[in-house]
Amino acid sequence: MRTCRSLRLCASPATSWADSLRILATIVVIAWATMRAPPVHADRLAGAALAQKGSKAVPACMVCHGANGEGQTASGFPRLAGQPEAYLLKQLQAFAGGQRKNPQMAPIAGALDARQMRDAAEYYASLPGWQPHGQTPSASPQYELGRRLSTAGNWSKEVPACFACHGPGGAGVPPHFPALAGQPSAYTRRQMKAWQTAGRTNDPQGLMKSVAEKMTDAEFDAVSLYLENPSLDGKGK
Ligand code: HEC
Ligand code: HEC
Repeated sequence: MRTCRSLRLCASPATSWADSLRILATIVVIAWATMRAPPVHADRLAGAALAQKGSKAVPACMVCHGANGEGQTASGFPRLAGQPEAYLLKQLQAFAGGQRKNPQMAPIAGALDARQMRDAAEYYASLPGWQPHGQTPSASPQYELGRRLSTAGNWSKEVPACFACHGPGGAGVPPHFPALAGQPSAYTRRQMKAWQTAGRTNDPQGLMKSVAEKMTDAEFDAVSLYLENPSLDGKGK
């Protein structure tokens, strides 16, 4: 038996409702496709040239991010290689727009046009991401704490496991969740602190803010240490 929840629904014959729904669905699909269509196509080779040589306005990205986008552990410059393309593009836009603040990256991103941002994002996303390199980290209580937070979280404080969003092993889940594995610990720590103190405000629905706000500095240190080389399962302590 048909129940009428609204007068309009009862008054209209079923077929015309189906028709208008179908038309509406078509309009939505077309509108969505138009909005999603990228205005310019990314060019990986142009991205590679920008990374290796820079332009009149910006230095070569590799000076800081490494010859193959692998980052620099000692100076805390992040790895870009293998990160999701949409994530990289979003970060460049955030530096340019001020939702992410950094004295080195903000002026560089601000000097790139939309096309150069897409090219660079496509190029770095195409490079191989982090792999365990055989250098076993030394197990310590701090490393073990970092492993626990990453794989299981800390439910007494409602901190979810990092890998619940960032994927097993911290390998990332495209397009929105970046890889964490292999990032310099100084970099990861700086990002956690930035979310906690509202220096970085571009995370969707404040997801990272709500994680970082519940954590202590000691937990930031532990998780950052572990994520720099998460290749030990932590049981050999
Ligand atoms: C002078 C050094 C320097 C140069 C040159 C440089 N960067 Fe960066 N970049 C940084 C630093 C430092 C950060 C981390 C900023 C922070 O802590 O928030 C960063 C972060 C980024 C991020 C965010 C990464 C992430 O995981 O969220 C992207 C994307 C990026 N850079 C792209 C580029 C591109 C593309 C170029 C070349 C056009 C470039 N960078 C050149 C220093 C540099
Ligand atoms: C509920 C999902 C969620 C959980 C849980 C989570 N993250 Fe994130 N994280 C995100 C999202 C989404 C982003 C991307 C933010 C953006 O778009 O700028 C992110 C970004 C990051 C970044 C920036 C990476 C880069 O390259 O700049 C770091 C570092 C990070 N998270 C660390 C952690 C750590 C450490 C934990 C566990 C203590 C954690 N995250 C747990 C959703 C999550």
